[in-house]
Amino acid sequence: MAGWMLLVMMQAGGEAAQAMIHNGSFVEPGLAGWLVVGGERVTAEEIEADVAGLTRAVRLTARPAEGQPAWSLQFGQVVGQPVRPGDAIYLQAWLRSPDRATVTFVFELREPPHPKWINRQVRLTPEWREYRFVGRPDRRLEVGQSALKWFLGHGAGTVEIAGVRLQNFGDAPADRFDETIDWWSGRPHPDDWRRPALERIERLRKGDLTVRVVDPAGRPVAGATVRSEQLRHHFRFGTAAPAARLIDTADPDNAKFREVVERLFNTVTFENDLKWAAEGEPRLAAVDRAAAWLAERGIAVRGHCLLWGSYQHLAPRARGLRGDELRAACRQHVTDYATRMRGRVYLWDVVNEAGNNTEVWDAIGWEQFAEVFRLARAADPTALLCYNDFGILQDPSPHRALVRARIEQLLAAGAPVDVLGLQGHLNPPLTPVDRMLAILDEWAAFGKRLEITEFDIGVSDDKVHGEYVRDVLIAAFSHPAVDGFIQWGFWEGSHWRARDQAHLFRRDWTPRPAAQEYERLVKGDWWSRLEGTSGADGRLELRPFYGRHRITAEAGGRHCEAVIETVPGATAAATIVLE
Ligand code: XIL
Repeated sequence: MAGWMLLVMMQAGGEAAQAMIHNGSFVEPGLAGWLVVGGERVTAEEIEADVAGLTRAVRLTARPAEGQPAWSLQFGQVVGQPVRPGDAIYLQAWLRSPDRATVTFVFELREPPHPKWINRQVRLTPEWREYRFVGRPDRRLEVGQSALKWFLGHGAGTVEIAGVRLQNFGDAPADRFDETIDWWSGRPHPDDWRRPALERIERLRKGDLTVRVVDPAGRPVAGATVRSEQLRHHFRFGTAAPAARLIDTADPDNAKFREVVERLFNTVTFENDLKWAAEGEPRLAAVDRAAAWLAERGIAVRGHCLLWGSYQHLAPRARGLRGDELRAACRQHVTDYATRMRGRVYLWDVVNEAGNNTEVWDAIGWEQFAEVFRLARAADPTALLCYNDFGILQDPSPHRALVRARIEQLLAAGAPVDVLGLQGHLNPPLTPVDRMLAILDEWAAFGKRLEITEFDIGVSDDKVHGEYVRDVLIAAFSHPAVDGFIQWGFWEGSHWRARDQAHLFRRDWTPRPAAQEYERLVKGDWWSRLEGTSGADGRLELRPFYGRHRITAEAGGRHCEAVIETVPGATAAATIVLE
């Protein structure tokens, strides 16, 4: 028994490696070392195999309950070795699935919030294939603290696993490892979706603007040169940002951070500062100062989030409360924060992630789920009210059904919901863009406005990352129900998923291709710079992207300008008097 606890050193690829798991070839009877999670919904049996010299395998049959997350069914093993920060952990295993099941390969911390250093979703094939992934924990992991797992609850199906190796290669550099990452889950031909999307953008995101140039007596001025230059987008292009970075003047990186915020975004979500769990005067003082900084620049604040229904997301002082006391505390909090931020946020995420964060709602009564929207409306009638959740744009996603049920529940209870938020923290294989457009259609059928609220994709391949950010941006901007596209951070030095390479700018501020694609679209292709000449009647028709524009007119050495806002559903006209 003690044998497998010994450190086994072996040579692989010229590097010294330490084996981290036991019975990876399934030759020991009784699936020794392995754990199956999911009760009746998953069965594991030992079978014969014949691939790559392997003779044994495990066959797992999963039957997930409707709407349960993929991690509700698991197969895996607790790791019996310590890991040092920065160690390269290399996973190799042979898998197949006759019904092409989807699984997630995971190497994670066993304690919440379960940070993952390998987190790869793969659609298996009926033929055996070897999968290889590397992960690098950023902290020390003691014996028994980490685990290798497969999440099996993506859908019903059979999965066979053979020849599992999990090895620690210490400080071996990343380029030593060959990975088999399935970036794209099938890519549609761009012509099939992009051309119609770009046509929709032309139609939906631009509006006619009549400019009339007159002299001080009101007579039309013909032949004036008229220029319009976009100052701001009407559509919300945003990012998450910590309030502290918007106000700190000591760290030069924060000056860079603010520069990018001003250049690329018109909307900011405070990443953690308005969460109840962060409550406290210093935090709220930072919010006040950051909100003022943003307001001076015409950048809107997205309020995130009033209630997030796990005890860990409540203010520390509220975590121990239950029943009437907890209900009263939650209601009071909604009223307090909505009142406090009135006039300073354009929208509140009133409830976050009720799909799986249910403890609080179970404790205070689900009727409060709709009720707190009414409280928020009463406290701040000017703010849009949003229900925000994740796992909607990922595909396949068992979570989506759960979120759908929550939204139906909310709407049936008559809650004043204006916006549905789709977070969009995605991992490969990336949802094909045509499929994403179909999901947006499905969500638009609830009859509410949509925002993509927390977009980031964990993709280390720069090219794939750039292409996908570009395509999703086009898809979102083209969809008639979508009002905003908010990135969940942009800089490696301040990104919750920097480990997954989800950032747009590297630590040294060099842009990854995704940053360049983003800027090219948002400040290039979709940023109107127009020019023309007024006609005999002094008029000129322009069609800029909706937003704020500076219009200048010039004739005979005279020059005058005006700022005008164009918005969907209203005709825009500007009269410029050449003095
Ligand atoms: C994340 C922040 O980015 C982290 O800094 C924090 O440690 C945890 O929360 N869904 C949400 C966001 O609604 O509030 C989360 O933000 C990411 C997932």
